[in-house]
Amino acid sequence: MMTRRALVVANWKMNGSTAACEAWAGAFKALPAPEAETALCAPAVLLGCLAQHLSQSCVALGAQDVSEYASGAYTGETSASMLRDIGARWVIIGHSERRTLFGDTDARVAAKVRAALACGLKPIVCVGETLAERESSQTLRIVEKQLTAVIDAVGAQALASGAVAYEPVWAIGTGKTATPDEAQHVHCNLRELIARFDPKAADAVRILYGGSVKPSNAAELFSQPDIDGGLIGGASLSAQDFYAICQAA
Ligand code: 13P
Repeated sequence: MMTRRALVVANWKMNGSTAACEAWAGAFKALPAPEAETALCAPAVLLGCLAQHLSQSCVALGAQDVSEYASGAYTGETSASMLRDIGARWVIIGHSERRTLFGDTDARVAAKVRAALACGLKPIVCVGETLAERESSQTLRIVEKQLTAVIDAVGAQALASGAVAYEPVWAIGTGKTATPDEAQHVHCNLRELIARFDPKAADAVRILYGGSVKPSNAAELFSQPDIDGGLIGGASLSAQDFYAICQAA
C-alpha cells in the first residue's frame, strides 16, 4: 500500500474580502510550512488577490465551483480555463450547498469534473448524505451513487488526480461531527468502490473528511486509516485554526 500525503483544504465558502486575504496570507506565511499539502478554496473574485498574497507560500489556490461549459454565452459562469489563468490548481465540485441550493445534480457534477480535468484543474469531488438519509440507513447507497456518477463519466484514475471529500450534510456548519469510526466506515467503503474500478487509483486517491472539523477534533479524525485529510469550512477562516488542523494531519 502506498502512503498518501495528507491534504488539508480550506473552504471559505461565501466569506472573505481583499483585506481578509491579506491578513490570512500574512498570518499563515509567518508560520513554518506544515507537512501536509494545503490548499485554499476561495470565492472566485478573491483568487487574484490571494494569488498575489500567497505567492511563495505552500498554500495552493482553489475555487469552490466551476462551469461545466468551456466558454461563451453563459452569463455569470466561471470557466475552468479562467480559474487556471488566475492561478487556481484545485476546485471543489458537488459541495452539498451547491447540490441543495443551486441545483447541482449528479449529472452536472460529473460534467463539471470533466470540464475541470480538461483544463488541468484538480477536482475535489464532494459526496455526503442528509440526516434523513443517514437515519434511514441510506448513507452508503447515497454516497456511492454520487461517486459512481463521476467515475462513470471520467474514470477512477482521473478521480485520483484530484481528491474525494466525504461531507455528511448534517455535520456541515452544525458543530456535529461524524465520529472517527462513522467517518472511517464511509471512507473505507468509498475506497472499496473506487477499487472495483481501479485498485491503483483507490490506493492513491485522497479521501478527505469535512463537517465541523476543528483543531480539537482533527487529530482523532485524521488518525483513521482511510481519512487522508480534511475539507475545512468555518475553522478555515482563521489562519491559526486552519494551521493547527494542518498540523494535526
Ligand atoms: P464546516 O467546517 O463549517 O462544518 O464546513 C464544512 C464544509 O462544508 C467544507 O466544505
